[in-house]
Amino acid sequence: MTRQITIFDTTLRDGEQAPGFSMSEAGKLSVARALQALKVDVIEAGFAAASPGDFKSVERIGQEIEGPAICSLARTTPGDIDAAARALKAAPNKRLHVFLGTSPLHREFKLNMTPDEVLTRIKDMVELARTHFDDVEFSAEDAIRTERGFLVEALSIAAEAGAKTLNVPDTVGYSTPDEIYQLFKHLTEKVSKANEVIFSAHCHDDLGMAVANSLAAVRGGARQIECTVNGIGERAGNCALEDAVMAVRTRRDVFNLTTNIDTRQIMAASRALSKATNTHPPRNKAIVGANAFAHESGIHQHGVLKNRETYEIMKPEDVGLSSNQIVLGKHSGKHALAARAKELGWSLEGDHLQAAFDAFKALADEIGLVDSGQLSALLERLESGTQGDAELWTLKRIDIRSPLSPKDHPVARIEMDHGRRGQVTDIASAPGALDAAYRAVSQIMEIPARVEDIEMQYVAADAHDAGEDGQGADVLVDLKANVEGEVFSGRARARDIIPACVSAYIDALNNACAVRRRRNAKAHAA
Ligand code: KIV
Ligand code: ZN
Repeated sequence: MTRQITIFDTTLRDGEQAPGFSMSEAGKLSVARALQALKVDVIEAGFAAASPGDFKSVERIGQEIEGPAICSLARTTPGDIDAAARALKAAPNKRLHVFLGTSPLHREFKLNMTPDEVLTRIKDMVELARTHFDDVEFSAEDAIRTERGFLVEALSIAAEAGAKTLNVPDTVGYSTPDEIYQLFKHLTEKVSKANEVIFSAHCHDDLGMAVANSLAAVRGGARQIECTVNGIGERAGNCALEDAVMAVRTRRDVFNLTTNIDTRQIMAASRALSKATNTHPPRNKAIVGANAFAHESGIHQHGVLKNRETYEIMKPEDVGLSSNQIVLGKHSGKHALAARAKELGWSLEGDHLQAAFDAFKALADEIGLVDSGQLSALLERLESGTQGDAELWTLKRIDIRSPLSPKDHPVARIEMDHGRRGQVTDIASAPGALDAAYRAVSQIMEIPARVEDIEMQYVAADAHDAGEDGQGADVLVDLKANVEGEVFSGRARARDIIPACVSAYIDALNNACAVRRRRNAKAHAA
């Protein structure tokens, strides 16, 4: 029979407590909304006693998010339990997660407590927690390195004191799938009230086995997995929610499990988290990385264009992407180039295809990936047969006036050149100097856009080219601009940050214009 497992999300607690992932109250709320849409069963919203900010976030999430149970972490102290109870007072569906270290290392060096003192504390604090919460989870921190007999005793005492979920954390990411499977089998046989409680796995990824260990724990009897979006968390992170959920969905034949998760919300949750933390998952991250459904190599592209399943085991739509991505880069083949050119309105065959392919490879060697806008601009140039494109805008001069008073916005004056129209100048103001410059560019090019992403790299010059100041570094900017819902890339290199960013913005808008011109031409021809 197919079993359902509970998804306990700890992105806002274990995830948030790791360096580089702290979030503002507003950021936490937006992630909590994304988790609600994802339909996780439990949201661990924070650690109410940790700081006034954490208290407030737990309180607001408890008040504003309906559906999942909202949970706060607490140490086994009356003060922590009381703080969590106050923070979650108004939450209609709430849980307390109380924890105490049980391993010899934690007992001796962190807690300075004897085994009997640990057992007494668990009993007293779980009982106290139950006076405030109907739903109490107990975690035996560092369970994996706890003596088996003592772990059974500690979990049994927690169950008898009223804990409804018994969490078995691999706090330091030390376990292996076989070991944790055996442990959960043992615990589900030996712990008191095993049939009345839910066993939970909480695995860290120090040895890269958090997802495999969580799934092995489920095979051994766990009914809840604790996980985080994008796998963020202490040190190497926690079990990644999207990996565990898509593994059981894709391999139902192996796991025979289901979850409540609406997998089509996975990308939205991942993006909400990236926005709140200013950190993107690595390109090659399973499910949510930029490469997870992207194909650049010619052989893979040819296969996927004929039948997606040649190189894909999941549908991109199932995780919330509109389609897979045939990425054009130096490894791409003619099939993919011709297919993308066709989407953009060019029908390339024979010598034309070969010429376009040669020019495309040269561009890809220079810039890496080539997006639709960059390809359109290249094909347009090839078609018109000119090197200096008559439709191209270039930056001539920037003047920025940045008043010191916070009441006045910076003003940018931009001078640009156009192949046909010649020189055009405009000014604009905005809260930031760069925003003012972008705005003036958009006014000149008559195309509104929003910068979504900027990556900057310093390219140091050779010592003999370093110039008078001995620095000589250039700035290389890769920028993504959203033009009415479509994203275009731009790139530029300059000696200074502001001209490099503005030129990259102009490049992205030139590419957007090239796509629009082709679309208009197609529409007129039809
Ligand atoms: O890793 C861990 O042990 C924890 C506990 C607080 C559950 O995060
Ligand atoms: Zn943890």
